[in-house]
Amino acid sequence: MANRLKVVRTVASLRRALEPYRRRRDHIALVPTMGALHRGHMALVQEAQRRARHVVVSIFVNPTQFAPHEDFDSYPRRFATDIKALREAKIHLVWAPSVEAMYPDGFATRIAPEGPAKAGLEDEFRPHFFGGVAMVVAKLFTQVSPDLAFFGQKDYQQLRVVTQMAKDLDLPVKIIGVPTVREPDGLALSSRNAYLSAAERTVAPMLYRVLKGCATRIKNGEIVDRVLNVARIEIDVAGFMLDYLEARHALTLAPISSPKDGPVRLLVAAKLGKTRLIDNIAV
Ligand code: PAJ
Repeated sequence: MANRLKVVRTVASLRRALEPYRRRRDHIALVPTMGALHRGHMALVQEAQRRARHVVVSIFVNPTQFAPHEDFDSYPRRFATDIKALREAKIHLVWAPSVEAMYPDGFATRIAPEGPAKAGLEDEFRPHFFGGVAMVVAKLFTQVSPDLAFFGQKDYQQLRVVTQMAKDLDLPVKIIGVPTVREPDGLALSSRNAYLSAAERTVAPMLYRVLKGCATRIKNGEIVDRVLNVARIEIDVAGFMLDYLEARHALTLAPISSPKDGPVRLLVAAKLGKTRLIDNIAV
């Protein structure tokens, strides 16, 4: 039993697999992923295992959160390797629906998140993104009915959007944010780091260094806008195409001009060649 891992691909078989857990009223945790698992995903899995008796990992590359020009087709898919890693981590249930199982013919419902989903960060550059994320996460929550669900702080706006949605829809699930896992040089782990060339890879950790520098200067009382303006130039000079570098209220994501106005989160997104990197830290 200990090392048995079951992959289920239809809602009916998922419900059957969850039935014994429910009957025993055991706590169920969900870790939603799009696969191509790395240590960042595995940190969510470990935290989930620490806090719940049963952990379901979903693997689903969700087409509705990719725009037509984005990398849905080329997004890394490594199912066999992922399953091996999950088996080694002692995961027993993987929910891996097909696109047809998740969005059958005639599917006609949309979720339109607002608030943190309209903060003027990722949504400015990927307008379709949070609608797709909110929809698939709402479906995953109703399919699995987890007591707890784990999301990475790496995708900070996503974490806020999902938290808001669960609250607004009265979904009985507690959302838990897990700190970002980084390479030794500070680069946040991401499936998309595989797209970086060797030269780009040496430049990429600079984003995190800049965030840390900004956080220190803001903590030391320097003016937020001034700190960010200097940092934007540094990022530009290093060869990135900056999408945004912003200081926001850590919960609402509203613009913030001083740490006196609430907990501050610094968020950045920039392209390095063809690869878009995002990162964020607390001040
Ligand atoms: P994906 O990019 O596969 O990420 C799955 C989860 O892993 C997310 O909650 C993400 O924030 C977390 N994660 C990624 N890199 C991380 C890192 N370096 N440290 C900590 N956590 C990290 O995010 C998605 O998939 C999708 O949008 C999804 C929520 C599954 C909906 O389709």
